[in-house]
Order: sequence, then structure tokens, then C-alpha cells
Amino acid sequence: MKLLPMSLVAAAALLLAAAGTLVPTPTRAGEAATHATATVAALTPAELRRELAAMPAGDAARGERLYGQQFCASCHGAQGLTPSIHWPSVAGQRAAYTYKLLLDYQADRRHEGERAALMRDAVVGLSNQDLADLAAYTARLPRPVAGAPPAGATPAAIETLVRSGDRKRLLTACASCHGARGGGGTNGQPALAGQNPAYLVRTLLDYHGGTRANDPARGMRAFAARLTRDEVDALAAYYAGLPPRR
Ligand code: HEC
Ligand code: HEC
Repeated sequence: MKLLPMSLVAAAALLLAAAGTLVPTPTRAGEAATHATATVAALTPAELRRELAAMPAGDAARGERLYGQQFCASCHGAQGLTPSIHWPSVAGQRAAYTYKLLLDYQADRRHEGERAALMRDAVVGLSNQDLADLAAYTARLPRPVAGAPPAGATPAAIETLVRSGDRKRLLTACASCHGARGGGGTNGQPALAGQNPAYLVRTLLDYHGGTRANDPARGMRAFAARLTRDEVDALAAYYAGLPPRR
């Protein structure tokens, strides 16, 4: 385990100061340029299966200590609920997904910009056991309670996309992978219910444009590429507004 560079702590403080506002996050010199062009390929489905089969049993109590020591709480909140519109909540997320994502950040497989670089700095030098412990801890925290439901009823077309997909566009139902209540799946499919809507929009647009490229089998990139901007906004509002349940 390695201590965090002070620059990361300073960046966290700056970002936290901007929490809740639309102030753009500061870029560390050179970071965006190097990472926008980095091309570390996603794990293949077979590699992901191997990584998950080899995932150490997580020790949540040890994970809780690491969560404090590695400053995870300063960005993701003491209870895993993000204090900022810029960052995702990690509370109640499936351990397999959290573990996979932490491996991805370590190996630079998720490299959409300066935010991913902050995450890489937070986990570099941690062992697989450390990552599994962190994942076990965050999985235990209560899922985020849904924010205010989106204004007006969810458009029927969005419900249809979630439940049935759209055969004309080869869009598989979101619920078939992310669960009927947005609670996620056991094989690396994340829970979406109650997630920060600004993060959901950003990450769907990143898949859409291909800057987020850590999805095995390119599934999320292919689905997101076929969504319109309005659908991205509506799907984010829909999932952010779902109450926590598995
Ligand atoms: C300086 C702020 C910061 C620190 C410290 C930090 N994170 Fe993050 N984390 C982020 C940001 C920003 C993202 C979203 C990155 C992106 O959009 O690429 C993120 C993403 C994640 C994700 C992916 C979530 C998802 O839904 O895909 C996980 C898991 C995560 N962090 C866990 C952790 C853990 C565990 C620690 C401590 C070891 C930690 N983070 C430390 C800012 C931080
Ligand atoms: C075939 C299964 C599958 C389908 C269908 C699917 N997803 Fe996903 N989704 C995944 C997987 C697996 C991941 C994690 C990929 C990774 O590791 O980056 C993911 C990731 C995501 C993320 C990122 C979550 C985070 O915390 O960073 C969002 C948002 C998302 N999906 C939304 C959707 C929406 C909306 C739909 C329907 C239009 C959908 N997904 C359809 C499997 C699927």
C-alpha cells in the first residue's frame, strides 16, 4: 500500500469545493492529453471470468480501514454516498463490479480523462486483497436512497427501453443485465438504482463516444452508441430515481 501524493489530496479538496456547482474540474497538466489517447484494451469476457474466479474473499472490516486510509471517503463520502455531482456513489454496489473497476483503474483500462486519473492514483500500489476488501466494505453500505423522482411520469418509451429494449436498433433490455430494479448482476453488471444522475449521463456519453472503453465485449459502447442524447438524459433520471432494492 502506498501513501497518496499530496497533489491528489489537494485535487480532492478543490473538487469538493466545486461540489454541487457546474464549475469544471481542474485538469492536471498533461493528464487529459496522455489519457485521452491511451488505449489499454478492456478485459475480454474470458479474462473477466478468470479475474472474478480468482477474486480473494473480501474482509469488510479491513476494507473499512483502507477506505479511510486511501481517502476514498473524501470523494465518495463516508458512507459511500457521493457529496459531489462529479463523482459516483459506491455504496451498496456489487462487490464483483467494484473489484473489476478498481482493477481497471489500476491497469489504466478506464482512462476517460482527469477523473479516471484521480482514481488510478487512489488505487495504484494496492494488492488484489486490498481491492477485494474495499469491494466487500462498499457492498455492505446501504444503497443510495433515490433522489427526487424526475419531473412528470417516466415516458413510456423509456420504460419500454428498460424492460424490453428495441429490436430495430438491436438494443437489449437494460433490465436484463442491470436487474429488474436496477440492482445489478453478479457478473460485473453494476447496480444503477439511486446513482448520481450527473455521473450516469457522463458515463453513458463516454461509452457513446467510445472514451469509456473498459466494457468487456464492447456491450455498453454498442448500446450507448445507439441511444439519443434525450434517451441518455431520461435513462439517467429514471435510474437515479429508482428506490434501492435488489
Ligand atoms: C480524488 C477523488 C477520488 C478518490 C480519492 C477516490 N475516488 Fe473513486 N472515483 C472518483 C471519480 C471522479 C470517479 C469517476 C471517474 C470517472 O468518471 O472516470 C470514481 C470512480 C470510482 C469507482 C467506479 C464507480 C462506477 O460506478 O463505475 C469506484 C468503484 C471507486 N471510484 C472507488 C473508490 C475507492 C475504493 C477509493 C479509495 C481507494 C476511491 N474511489 C478514491 C474520485 C475519487
Ligand atoms: C448485455 C448486458 C447489458 C445490457 C443489455 C445493458 N448493460 Fe449497462 N452495463 C453492463 C455491464 C457489464 C456494465 C459494466 C461495464 C464496465 O465494466 O465498464 C454496464 C455498465 C453500465 C453503466 C455504467 C455504470 C457505472 O456505475 O459506471 C451504465 C450507466 C449502464 N450500464 C446503463 C445501461 C443502460 C441505460 C442500458 C439499457 C439501454 C444498459 N446499460 C444495458 C451490461 C449491460
